[in-house]
Amino acid sequence: CGIVGVTGNDNTVKIILNGLQKLEYRGYDSAGIFVNSKNGQDYLVKEKGRIKDLRKEVGPEVHGTAGIGHTRWATHGVVSVDNAHPQVSKDDRFYLVHNGVIENFQDLKSDFLSDVPFTSQTDTEVVVQLIDKFAVEDHLDAHDAFVKALGYLKGSSYGFLLMDREEPETLYVAKNKSPLLIGLADGYNVVCSDSLAMLNETHDFLELMDGEVVTVKPDEVIIENKDGEKVERKPFHVDMNADETDKGTYPFYMLKEIDEQPNVMRKLAQEYLSDTGKPVISDDLLNDMQEADRLYIVGAGTSYHAGLVGKRLFESMTQKPTEVHISSEFAYEQPILSEKPFFIFLSQSGETADSREVLVNVNSGNYKSLTLTNVQNSTLSREATYTLLLHAGPEIAVASTKAYTAQIALEAILAKALGERDNQIVASNFDIRQQLGLVATGMQALVDEKNVIENIAKDYFLNTPNAFYIGRGLDWTVSLESALKLKEISYVQAEGFASGELKHGTIALIEEGTPVIGIITQKRTAGLTRSNLQETMARGAKTITIVASKLAKPGDTIILPDIDEHLTPLLSVVPAQLLAYYTSLNKGLDVDKPRNLAKSVTVE
Ligand code: G6P
Repeated sequence: CGIVGVTGNDNTVKIILNGLQKLEYRGYDSAGIFVNSKNGQDYLVKEKGRIKDLRKEVGPEVHGTAGIGHTRWATHGVVSVDNAHPQVSKDDRFYLVHNGVIENFQDLKSDFLSDVPFTSQTDTEVVVQLIDKFAVEDHLDAHDAFVKALGYLKGSSYGFLLMDREEPETLYVAKNKSPLLIGLADGYNVVCSDSLAMLNETHDFLELMDGEVVTVKPDEVIIENKDGEKVERKPFHVDMNADETDKGTYPFYMLKEIDEQPNVMRKLAQEYLSDTGKPVISDDLLNDMQEADRLYIVGAGTSYHAGLVGKRLFESMTQKPTEVHISSEFAYEQPILSEKPFFIFLSQSGETADSREVLVNVNSGNYKSLTLTNVQNSTLSREATYTLLLHAGPEIAVASTKAYTAQIALEAILAKALGERDNQIVASNFDIRQQLGLVATGMQALVDEKNVIENIAKDYFLNTPNAFYIGRGLDWTVSLESALKLKEISYVQAEGFASGELKHGTIALIEEGTPVIGIITQKRTAGLTRSNLQETMARGAKTITIVASKLAKPGDTIILPDIDEHLTPLLSVVPAQLLAYYTSLNKGLDVDKPRNLAKSVTVE
């Protein structure tokens, strides 16, 4: 799931291990490195578990001037040292790390490699053995054998970093659908799947396009396109400090990121609103959106949930019909499109393969699109017609928090801009600057009440196998996100439910002591959700309420400061994030790196 490489530096081992550590947040279950020194000494070290476990295995003798490293999130084959990368060819000559999935690896294995003894269950080993076979049998050098092997992988997704022991200082790189960057450092070069991994080495990176093959030496980078022609490319500068990715005095990144949300709201107002509080969004983008007869929002996981809120914001402020789709569903079950659709991609990382698959189709249909992402120059940003950045700062914890609220705030700014252009009264009356200010203050008040929320988490969630969040409309969408947070990091089986739908089946699951959390921020449905909560109480549920102040009643649990009803998800989600955080913390779990999950999933 994470790739790093270095050539031309005596501190290669250190740079690789630190780089892998920076990529830990993406989620992984094993890791490995291969380093090569000019005098022919080389080392392969792999370990299950965390980078700290790998570090223990890397003895002081392990050194080199070029090397590759990888964190693996298992797709083909169980979590084991054998399946960890680098994968090695049978004659110990080629070492390969890989992100992505080789769809036809079984065919390649039986067509070309039936006589090769395999040591792992991975699709990656098939590729490294294939490279080796072509090198030996066709007398090809590493570059040509690599290119020949790539020719058999059509349709697959990959980011590859290859080393050949016969050329100890050269790294071979190729990518298709999976992100990889080349970093240009002072006197040496690096490779990484995420610039965060290498910000201590350089801020200047070359992006790579699908199908390209790159040869990286200490003093030279040669990029070739699909047809083998050399390509010139200017580096781009990443404007971020390595220490922005430090967690400071916080025990976990997630808590830091929850706490940063008030500032993210202020930053968005600063970036996207004029001094008079008017949205500053490019005319071209607004024209294209205005011309569209329907908006299609596409995202995965938490970003999909931010899209559900977006639908309500766009429809209320612009009167434009808006659909929201899970990217992995849309990619293969495309709904019938309207005549003039406009696509909005939501993605914290900008790299999610499921969303990218949809964007590829959107581009082949020549439709206009916009990506809201936190990562400048990410794939979804480069390939969409327009990009708006979330400006949330790096989000490291696997469970997304500030990217969700940033996406919603930015959707609100956009909906306001678009609606106002069409003279929609709801948009014109919506004072976005004032509201974002209230949101920031409201969030601050909520995060300042952490101890109260920690106690609730202990009382309600610590020993329960399951829990339900319920609500209607916008509150329902936040229920989905709140339940996802609890599932992801505390492993409580949590469901978000439309509260009116409970009685049509799911209420059968309520038992004595089952926690049910009602989210109540919308005047029109507040009474109904309260009745639905009563129904669960009558069947033994232990209920909690997260309620907007103006709708509060005696006995409510968590009171949210009042803001415009369009934006209540920005506040109601905060206690839910904290409840999940403290449940995970008090269970002694690894809050930032929950089991089985990856931060950015670059496989479909
Ligand atoms: C992964 C993460 C989720 C995230 C989803 C979409 O599954 O674990 O937290 O919401 O990907 O990621 P994106 O970067 O596209 O927002």
